[in-house]
This record gives sequence, C-alpha cells and structure tokens, in this order.
Amino acid sequence: MPRLNTEWSADIAEIRRLATERTGPFDDAFTRRFAQHFPTLHPLFAALYGHRDDGLEQLAAVVAEAAASWNSRPDTLKAHDDERESNPDWFLSNRMLGGVCYVDRFAGSLAGIRDSIPYFQELGLTYLHLMPLFESPEGNSDGGYAVSSYRKVDPALGTMEELANLAADLRRAGISLVVDFIFNHTSNEHEWARNAVAAEPGYEDFYLIFPDRTMPDAYELTLREIFPEDHAGSFVQLPSVDGRPGRWIWATFHHFQWDLNYANPAVFRAMAGEMLFLANQGIEVLRLDAVAFIWKRLGTPSESLPEAHLLLRAFNAVLRMAAPSLLFKSEAIVHPDEVVQYVAPEECQLSYNPLQMALTWDALATRDPRLLQQALVRRHALPPGTAWVNYVRNHDDISWTFADEDAAEIGIHGYPHRRFLNDFYVGRYPGTFARGVPFQDNPKTGDARVTGTTASLAGVEAGDPGGIDRVLLAHAIALSTGGVPLIYLGDEVAQLNDYSYARNPDTAGDSRWVHRPERPADLYAQREDLTTAAGKVFTALTHLIRTRKETPEFAGGRLSGFDARHRSVLGYQRPGATDAAARILVLANVDDHPAVIRATVLAGFEAGAIDIVDGERVDLAVGLTLPAHGFVWLRVVPLA
Ligand code: GLC
Repeated sequence: MPRLNTEWSADIAEIRRLATERTGPFDDAFTRRFAQHFPTLHPLFAALYGHRDDGLEQLAAVVAEAAASWNSRPDTLKAHDDERESNPDWFLSNRMLGGVCYVDRFAGSLAGIRDSIPYFQELGLTYLHLMPLFESPEGNSDGGYAVSSYRKVDPALGTMEELANLAADLRRAGISLVVDFIFNHTSNEHEWARNAVAAEPGYEDFYLIFPDRTMPDAYELTLREIFPEDHAGSFVQLPSVDGRPGRWIWATFHHFQWDLNYANPAVFRAMAGEMLFLANQGIEVLRLDAVAFIWKRLGTPSESLPEAHLLLRAFNAVLRMAAPSLLFKSEAIVHPDEVVQYVAPEECQLSYNPLQMALTWDALATRDPRLLQQALVRRHALPPGTAWVNYVRNHDDISWTFADEDAAEIGIHGYPHRRFLNDFYVGRYPGTFARGVPFQDNPKTGDARVTGTTASLAGVEAGDPGGIDRVLLAHAIALSTGGVPLIYLGDEVAQLNDYSYARNPDTAGDSRWVHRPERPADLYAQREDLTTAAGKVFTALTHLIRTRKETPEFAGGRLSGFDARHRSVLGYQRPGATDAAARILVLANVDDHPAVIRATVLAGFEAGAIDIVDGERVDLAVGLTLPAHGFVWLRVVPLA
C-alpha cells in the first residue's frame, strides 16, 4: 500500500475509489461534503499518520466509515443538520440553559428521564447532559467512565433504541441531548481491550502495553499522577501468564480504565465510527472526556500535546462530512492557557470553564473577587462560534487550576493559596462555612481537590446565614457571563451532601460520590415553598433563568470588566464596552457584609438604570448598596 502524498489533491481520487469500493457510490450530499472537508482532513491525517505504510488505506477506511454512516443517517437528523447549518450560532443564545444528571440517580432509567421532560421544560433546559450511560463493568466503573461498549446502553438504564427515542423526544421539547464520549480510554472489559491483551491480530496496538517496567519508568519521569488513591503512576500490571511477570498497560485514571493508543490509525478509525454511530442516534453534543490526555510522548507530561489538537480537528472534519450538526464539548481541567487551546470552531465548539468555576469558589471563601475579576477580564474571551459552559460545580472535584503567574500579579502565592482553599472547603479552616470532602489527597505532593454539592460547599449544610445567598450568587455569576450555563440537577433545590457513599464498597473509595446523590424527591416537592431552603433557591433561581432568557445582552460571550472600586465587589458588563447602547452591568458582593458602591464609580452611566431582576428603576446618582452576598443585573446606558 502506498503512503499518503503530501498534497491532498494527489490522493483524493484514489481515496474516493477505495472508499466507494467498500460502501458503494457516494450520494450527492456526501459527494459535496467530502469535497468540502477532505482538503481539511487529509493534511491532518497525514501529519498524524503520514509516515506509516498503511496511511492511505487507513484514511480510505475512515472516509468509508463516514460515507456508510451518512447513508444510514435518519432523514430527520439530516433535516436537523440543515437547520443547524443555517443557524450555526444556536448555542450562543441567551435562551440556552443546561442541566446535568445521572440517569439512574435522577430518574432510575431512560424511561424515567423521558418522564422528567415536563420538569426540564419547567426549569427551562435546552441542553441535557446525561452522565455516562453505556455498558461498563459491574461494581466500580468510575461512574460509567469506564466504557465496555459505545454501542450498548447499560441494560439497567435501557436500550440504545430508547436512547434514540429519548433524543428525539428531547429535541421536540427544544432540548439537545449531550452524552459523554469517553475516548481517552475504555474499560478493561471492552472487546478491544480483551483482544489487545490476547494479541488478536489488528488489536495489538490499540492500547499501550509494555513487556516490563523499562518504558513505564521512563514515561513516568514526566507524568502527573491523576488518581494516586487508586494506583501510583500511570501504568498497571496485567496478570502474569505462564509464570512470566505480567506486562504493564497505560492507565492514567483507574486501574480498569486503559488508555487508547491514538498513534495507531486503526484506533482513530474505530473511534470515528463510534462517534458517528452516536450522532446517528440523535446525540447533539459529545462531551469529550479527559481530552488533554489523548496523545502521549516520552519525555513530556503527555498532556495537551500538539497531536491532541490535530486529532480533534481530524475528528471534526470527519463529522462535518457525515453528521454535520454534532458538536464537541471539551473537558480539559488543566492550566487556563491549555484550556483555551481546545476551544475553536474546528476543535471543541463548547468547553467547560473550570477557571471561572474554581475562582467563583475562591471569591466566596476569601471574600475577595480579584482573581475572578482578573480571569474574567483576561481569560474569558473565546473565538467566534464557540462558547463556555459555565457551571457552579459538576460531578467531579473542584481543582484549583488558576495560573500561578496571574495570582502572583496580585500578590497571591499559588501553592499556599491552594492549600488554604482545600482546607477551607473541606471544613478544616477555622470558621469555614463549607462542608466539602477531600478527594485524591496526595501526601507526596500535598495536592488535593474538593468535593461537595453547591449547597453544602456554600454554607447551607453548616447552617451559615449566608448559605442560600451564596448558592444564588454563584449561579447568578454562571448565568450572566455568557455561553451555556449548566446546572447540576438537584442544586436548584439546594441538595446537600450524601455521605452514604462511604458505606457502599463500590463508591467508598471515591469521595466524589458525596455530591452525586439521588434525586431528592422531598426537596423537589418543596420547590414552591418559600419557607424552605429548596423553595428559596428554586424560586429565586428560576426567576433568574427567566430573566436571562429575556435579556438579549446575555447572548454570546462578549464581556468587559467593570471596576466597582470596592474590595469585595466583582463587576462586569455584557455584552461589552464597545457598544454605545444599553448594556447589562453585573455587580456582585462576595462579602458577608453589605458593600456600598459610590455614585462617582457609576457616573459613566445615565442615572436612571433598570434592575432587570425585579424590574425596578434604580437611581445611580445616589450610589448603590449591595447586601451581603448580593448582586444586581442592571440595564445601564453609558453617557455619550
Ligand atoms: C473525567 C470525568 C471523571 C472521570 C475521568 C476519567 O475527568 O469527568 O469523572 O473520572 O474523566 O474518565
């Protein structure tokens, strides 16, 4: 087999011939899409695999996979593709609202999720992220993040057919279905994993398996330990065979999550096939799990290497051929400089915003919004056609991924500051309002992360008088900085930590289960009762959600800072300073005491402003007092 040429034009005819040999002639639409996206795909594929003798054959196999997938894509989804292509910025709308939950914990099964659609509509969701729902090992499967088959739904939850029907029902309700695509690793029970261990032809190189510790030791010199409570380092030993010591396999996360080897183009093709399959079930967004880890190279941390980006771009090009409306959301919980590298229309159109999330908690603990303010001014902007997913917390721990160099500029030392935040949020700091639990305490490095529900971290569990207001303040920030706000379902009714995980052997070793409780039916029943925490949070939060949906200034992600000249007040304007017209000014007080903002600070605006949350007129000429943990969303008009 010949290698790939350096010019796409030299290979296009041959690739098309080889692909159609497998799938039959391309239809008109696919012919058009192939012609449009092949010039993008070819050089990416060549950069990754051009040195291999099977490069051309492998690329033809990828194109054949795409053509076959297009042929079986349901017409309703093709119509949906057209709709999205005519409105590519749909996810930048201020009407967007995300929710995330575990299928079993929130609703028992996919059928239960379908029955919850009226509630999702009541809340205003337009985006529903269902946590991993594929077949995975019995017992501990890292909450389903160890996938044994991407084409089978966990039988306890339902079937693939039900998932496709649910996607259609949700779409009719105006809700896009999002699922995890756990593509850095599979479970050790995946058919590919079994075949690889058995050295079945074609599967030997699907994972990274080494005969002894030589290579693992060499790699580990520069790798970070991710789950040190599970196993030291990034490799685990396979059982011994015929009395010989077991080989070593790359496992970044748990010992049963084996990293795929993307240096093998057969892995790329196989995973492209799985993505396309899910796209054809009606999934609209794939949350790309652990995206930073997908490419490894000796002598490097093997995180966020340039090839990771080439892979994402290549996957995008394949998708644009055969499932054009599918989007990627990046899960990169790394240094902020690296997080943004994944966010591009050609890579991940959506991305978690772990920095804003962590720094919101930082501001609440320190009563000092400077790090968050700096991040909003400096690190919030994204390329057109992309958006942050802004969340208060998710199913994972909070890791303090701010940039030490940013912190140093305002006199904050990264290392002791992270220690303080950990102590504060796990309840070890005197006077703390938080009731979190440590996750992956690493005595070697002093590193740790924090888990807990929003209400427990914010002080509701501890009975702190500011607890409920902090829950609302944190959400008010996530709802007003642009992109897609994402609520962890249960947080909208102030759900507290659930310590029962510690009694279940499958979850006891992973403290993240403390903030993944079952759907709190009792709290949902109280959601209109203003004498309860659930009712207070739900009523206020749903009012903010409705307000956001009526506020066009909240569309997109454009934002500029506003210096409120007060040590506890965060300030920003939406959409931003370049518009002369009205805009929304957000002011948020993270302190436990009221904050008085002087009239001179607001003198750049016309005196008459509107508080869009309560609809009242506000006279800026007299200054503004924010209560403890209070905030305002003001429509203001800058003076000419
Ligand atoms: C991501 C998931 C996390 C999981 C890990 C390994 O970080 O969010 O829950 O443990 O990937 O798949």
